[in-house]
Amino acid sequence: MKPFLDTADLKEIDRWLKTGLLDGITTNPTILKNAGVTEPMTAWKQIVELIRKYTPIPISLSVEVFSDSPDEMLKQAKSFVNELDYEGTTIKIPILGTDGTDRLAVIRELAQQEIAVNCTACITWFQAFAAAKAGAKYVSLLYRRIMDTGLDGSAEIRKTRELIDQYRLPSEIIVGSIRKKNDVLRAYEAGAHIVTIPTKFLPELLMNKMSVKTQKQFLKDAGVLKE
Ligand code: E4P
Repeated sequence: MKPFLDTADLKEIDRWLKTGLLDGITTNPTILKNAGVTEPMTAWKQIVELIRKYTPIPISLSVEVFSDSPDEMLKQAKSFVNELDYEGTTIKIPILGTDGTDRLAVIRELAQQEIAVNCTACITWFQAFAAAKAGAKYVSLLYRRIMDTGLDGSAEIRKTRELIDQYRLPSEIIVGSIRKKNDVLRAYEAGAHIVTIPTKFLPELLMNKMSVKTQKQFLKDAGVLKE
């Protein structure tokens, strides 16, 4: 089970990298906008600096292209990889363009150039399977967005995982679009290799009243805490 953080908030990234919990970080244009980022490359470089500060492992950092055109996506992907100069750079390519045509050839070309791709905005198992066949290192199934279409998020994850395992595809499923604490567990149970978690759910996932009660009892018995 590999937890990623779904944010561009530097304070939160710093706070959670320190814990050793994270195996990756994902961003997208909406996340950057919500974090008040105006210069994405500067923000990504700051994230890389934090990663290097806290871990020797080049954990994955997903950065998304800002274009709809296949040629421009390829150009941006290569320039992001060069400019970031970070081993964990992962380029997010959406499965479809705004006209509904697929971006599988873009994924394939980047994969052939050994650029790690995270194919994002996958809603169905077939989209995710196709992206994995094209060579995406990661396929992102967006849990709550899947549910918004009336499909079952867990079923789409389960089927994708079955196919990845059956064909021994070297791709991992990232589940994003987490809107409830329990979505994390559902995603793992359905077969996600990775869940990318918005920061606010991590304290909720860690919280348990009995742990707090236990610590209180220990401190009382140690004479450190009064009644
Ligand atoms: C992550 O990689 C996705 O871009 C993100 O989780 C989407 O989340 P949302 O559906 O809440 O926008």
